[in-house]
Amino acid sequence: MATRFTYTSGSFGTEVDGEFERQLLAARSAAPAPLPHVIAGREVAKGPVFARVDPANVEQVASRAHAAGPELVDAAVAAANAARAQWRRTPYAERCRRLRAIAEAIGARHLETAARVSLETGKNRAEAVAEVQEAIDLITTYCDHMEENAGYEAPLLSFVEGERNTETLRPYGSFGVICPFNFPFALTIGMSVAALVAGNTVVVKPSEDAPWTGALFAELALPHLPEGVLNLVHGGVETGRALADAAVDGIAFTGSAAVGREIVAKLQGGRWARPALTEMGGKNPAIVTASADVRKAAEGVARAGFGLSGQKCSACSRAIVLDAVYDEFVEQLAEVTASFAVGDPADAASSLGPVINERAYERFARAVADAEADGRIVAGGRRPDLPGFYVEPTVVADLPRGHRLTREELFLPFVTVTRVATLEEAIEEANAIDYGLTAGIFAEDQGEVDRFLDEIEAGVLYVNRGAGATTGAWPGTQSFCGWKSSGTTGKGGLGPWYVPQFMREQSRTVV
Ligand code: SER
Repeated sequence: MATRFTYTSGSFGTEVDGEFERQLLAARSAAPAPLPHVIAGREVAKGPVFARVDPANVEQVASRAHAAGPELVDAAVAAANAARAQWRRTPYAERCRRLRAIAEAIGARHLETAARVSLETGKNRAEAVAEVQEAIDLITTYCDHMEENAGYEAPLLSFVEGERNTETLRPYGSFGVICPFNFPFALTIGMSVAALVAGNTVVVKPSEDAPWTGALFAELALPHLPEGVLNLVHGGVETGRALADAAVDGIAFTGSAAVGREIVAKLQGGRWARPALTEMGGKNPAIVTASADVRKAAEGVARAGFGLSGQKCSACSRAIVLDAVYDEFVEQLAEVTASFAVGDPADAASSLGPVINERAYERFARAVADAEADGRIVAGGRRPDLPGFYVEPTVVADLPRGHRLTREELFLPFVTVTRVATLEEAIEEANAIDYGLTAGIFAEDQGEVDRFLDEIEAGVLYVNRGAGATTGAWPGTQSFCGWKSSGTTGKGGLGPWYVPQFMREQSRTVV
C-alpha cells in the first residue's frame, strides 16, 4: 500500500537533493513530439498543435500538444459514455484496487513525475515533490472514504412486513474533468479519481500550461483501467467549453471564478440540470491582532503569500492588521520577504521559481504600477533580469481601503497590508470580497479567535499557523470547501463529503 506523507512545509525535499535536479534537466532536454489525445485507449494525434514554453527559460519549449475541437471532444465523451455501464457495475472494492495500483505506479516514478511538474509549472523541488505525494494521498484518501462507507449503500427502516428498504448512492455516469495549471498533477488526479472511485467514467482536459504532466497521469493510469474509463483531450479554454457543452453527466472543475460560473450556467441548462463541482479562486485574508505573535504572523503570511509564487487558490494575498502592531508587522514582513530567493527551480536554493506565463508576468507589472501610484511598496516590486517569467515577492502597505489590489485575485506573489482600528473592522474588511476560500488569524486572545471563527466568511480556516497562514490543506486533514465565489457546492476536495458529490441518491424498496 502506498505510504502516507505528513506535510511539513519548507522541509520536504532535502532528502532528494541532486536526483530531482538531474531529472528536471533531463526533462528539459526531452520535449516530446506533440502529445496526442487518448480516446478509448487509443492515441489520437489530431487537431492543431500548440506549444507550452518553459516558464523558466522562454527560449525553450517545454512541451507540445494537439488541441481538441468539439468533434474530438464529442468522440472522447462517446467513449466515456460507452464505458459507463461496465465501470458502474464493477464492484467498488475492485475499483479501489485498480486505483490504488495507480497510486503505486506514481510512487514508483515519484521524482521523474515531480520534475515533469516542475518543468511545466516552474515549481521548486519541495513543491513539486510534495505535489506528487499529494496525488498519491488523494487516491488513498478517496479510496478510504469509499471503503469506509461500504460503497455508500446502507439499510433503511422498514415498517411494512416483507419489505426491505435500502439507500444507495449511484454514479451519475460520465464526468468531464477540467484541470488547473497550479496543481496539474495532484488536482487532475484528485478530481478524476473522486469521479472514478464513485463509478463514473471520465474525460480529462489537462491545463494547456501543463499538457505533458496530464499525459503522464494517463500513461500511469491507463494500464490499470478498462478501455474508455479514462479519456484525455488536450487544449485550452475552447476545448474546456466544448467539454462542458458535450453529453457528459457532470463536470468537475478547478480554476477561475469567471470560467467556473460559465460552466455552472451551461450545466444548469439543457434537458435537466447536471452537477458542476467547482473549486474556484480566492483573495484570502490573514488578520493580525494586537495580541498576536507578530514574528510568527509575518512568517505565516510570507509563506502563504509567496509559496508557489502566490499561485495557490489558498494563497494569502491580504494581511489585515490592527493599528497597535501595524508598523511592527510591516517591518517584519518586509524582512522575511527579503529572505526569499527568486531563481531557476533547478537550483536547490530557489524559494520562488517563475510565474506561470506571460499573462501573469504582465499582470505583475500592472499591479506594481498601481501599487506605486496608490500605496507604498515595502518589499520586492521588480522583475529580475532572468530568461523566464520571474517576479519578486512583493509587499504593499498603505493602499486606500477598497483599492482593487485588495479586492481582485491576482494569483501572484503579491501581498497587501491594510491597517484597521478594531477586530470588528478587520473581519468586515476580510469579508468585503466576493471570495470565501481560506482565511487565517494570528491572535493569542481566545475571545478574538472565537469571534473570528464565528464571523469570518470562508470555508477553510487557520488559527496561528506560522507554517502558512492560509495554505497547506492536505488530503484527509482539511477540506477545501470554498464559500461565495470560491466554490458552488460548499463541499470541497480533500475532505469526507467530496466523493459522494459524484453520486446521486437512490432509495430501493424490494418486496
Ligand atoms: N491544498 C493547497 C493548499 O491548501 C493548494 O491549494 O495550499
